[in-house]
Amino acid sequence: AKDMGNDLEKILLTEEQLQNKLDEMARDIDEVYGSEDILVIGVLRGAVMVVADLVRKIHAPVTMDWMAVSSYGSGTKSSGVVRILKDLDTDVMERDVLIIEDIIDSGLTLSWLKSNLESRGARSVRIATMLRKPEAAKVEIDVDFLGFDIPNEFVVGYGLDYAEDYRHLPFIGTLAPHVYGG
Ligand code: PRP
Ligand code: MN
Ligand code: MG
Repeated sequence: AKDMGNDLEKILLTEEQLQNKLDEMARDIDEVYGSEDILVIGVLRGAVMVVADLVRKIHAPVTMDWMAVSSYGSGTKSSGVVRILKDLDTDVMERDVLIIEDIIDSGLTLSWLKSNLESRGARSVRIATMLRKPEAAKVEIDVDFLGFDIPNEFVVGYGLDYAEDYRHLPFIGTLAPHVYGG
C-alpha cells in the first residue's frame, strides 16, 4: 500500500542517515580499490536502492550486474540452499567483485553467493551491505563495508519489503506488528 497509514511503528534510519553512511562507505570502497575496475553485483530485488546510490558515490570505475536468488526448501529462509532465479550476464573470471546487499539477516544468502562467485574464478569477492542483524546470524560472514548493525526487528523501506510493499521508501522504518500479525 502506497499510503502507509500507521503501518510503520517508527523510523529507524532517516534518508539523511542513510545517505551520509553511504558517503562513508564509498570513501572506504575507493580507498580499497583505488582505480581498479569493480564489478558490482546487486542482489535483486532488495539491493536496487543501495546499488543505485552507492555506485554514484564511488569514484573507481564500476560495471554493474545483477543476480536474483531464492532460498530452496520449506518456505522459510533457513535451508541455506540457494537457487539462482536470474544469473549474471558477466563472466566473473579474474574480476574484482563487490556484492552489494540491502541486509544480512541469517547470512545464508550471502555466504552461498560469495563462495559461488569465488568458485567461478573471481579474483576477489567483497561484500557491502547497508544493514546487518547480528542477532539473526546463522553463519559468520566477513562484511567488508557495513552500513548499520540493527536489532532483530522487521524493517522495511529503502529496498526492503514486506510482501513487496514499502521498497520505495527513502528511509528505513520498523513495521507495526499489526501489519504482519505480530
Ligand atoms: C532479503 C534481503 C537479502 C536476504 C537476506 O531478500 O534482501 O537478500 O533476504 O537474508 P539472509 O541473510 O537470511 O539470507 P529476499 O529474499 O527477501 O528477496 P528480495 O531482495 O527480493 O526482497
Ligand atoms: Mn534480497
Ligand atoms: Mg524480501
